[in-house]
Amino acid sequence: MPSSPSAPAPAPLPKAELHLHIEGTLEPELAFALARRNGIELPYADEDALRRAYSFADLQSFLNLYYALMAVLRTEDDFADLAHAYLARAKEQGVRHAEIFFDPQAHTARGVPIGTVIDGLARALDGAEEAYGISTRLIMCFLRDESAESALATFEAARPHLHRLTAVGLDSAEVGHPPSKFREVFALAREAGLKCVAHAGEEGPPAYVWEALDILGVDRIDHGVRCMEDEQLVARLVADQVPLTVCPLSNVRLRVIDDLADHPLPAMLDAGLLVTVNSDDPSYFGGYAEDNFRAVRDALGLDQEILRTLARNSFRAAFLDEAARARHLRDVDAHGA
Ligand code: HPA
Ligand code: ZN
Repeated sequence: MPSSPSAPAPAPLPKAELHLHIEGTLEPELAFALARRNGIELPYADEDALRRAYSFADLQSFLNLYYALMAVLRTEDDFADLAHAYLARAKEQGVRHAEIFFDPQAHTARGVPIGTVIDGLARALDGAEEAYGISTRLIMCFLRDESAESALATFEAARPHLHRLTAVGLDSAEVGHPPSKFREVFALAREAGLKCVAHAGEEGPPAYVWEALDILGVDRIDHGVRCMEDEQLVARLVADQVPLTVCPLSNVRLRVIDDLADHPLPAMLDAGLLVTVNSDDPSYFGGYAEDNFRAVRDALGLDQEILRTLARNSFRAAFLDEAARARHLRDVDAHGA
């Protein structure tokens, strides 16, 4: 029976978002509002002109705009407002738990102290459970196209704030910057009791995924889609049930995959990989968490049981305590029942 035009959209599945760069949630409207507040001139006439610049040939062409727009983020209030805007969107999309990346070096390089970034984000995240029904974690990423020494200095600068962090990660331009470059800083993070994740196998080769596992000792791989080129690597990821935080709309926008209909997500699930679906930089890539779920459902013909598996996987892969994990898994099972 066709649904009437006024029928409400079905409630989104409860889910955890595990691959989300807070700076990548900066919508054009907020970018202009913060620019005005901080007396910064953006090189775009208006929000529509900025949106028209969201056409990317590859990861680097996206990163150029992503870093340039961060110029509007200067004060604790700016970071708190950015996180509040994301949490409000995430709530609408069924997100119940969010593990949020931030890129301190992109801010300290512009003279914004790391404490301003972390305190601003933490101010929004501390009230998120009550205000939005979303539990949160913070993951501090190192920029892999900066030096190993810069990552070490960033980790030392973050030491007074480590109680606010759950994990460290590795992002930015991948090719030519293998995980092994960051062996030392990841060892320090593990010694400090932090979890570890790393972007690997997005544009970079399967060898980078091996390095992230064997040299950095990561708990999850971010992206990882290129693991499918290496049978032994797939076997390893399946055997250890290493989660992969896949970002389908990002993969299409950054031309990692030509067409969403050709995305390896179904093959990855069939192989037994612990795959999750995430939004990466939703302001730039055309959709938040549930938008990614709906896009893969429509382009790949995934049925509700597979979507439920993806939602379950997101909680299985999250840095949650076991009681909270079990509660979320029960909510997924009860959804729509
Ligand atoms: N890949 C690498 N670095 C990033 C990304 C990404 O998709 N988004 C923000 N920083
Ligand atoms: Zn990412």
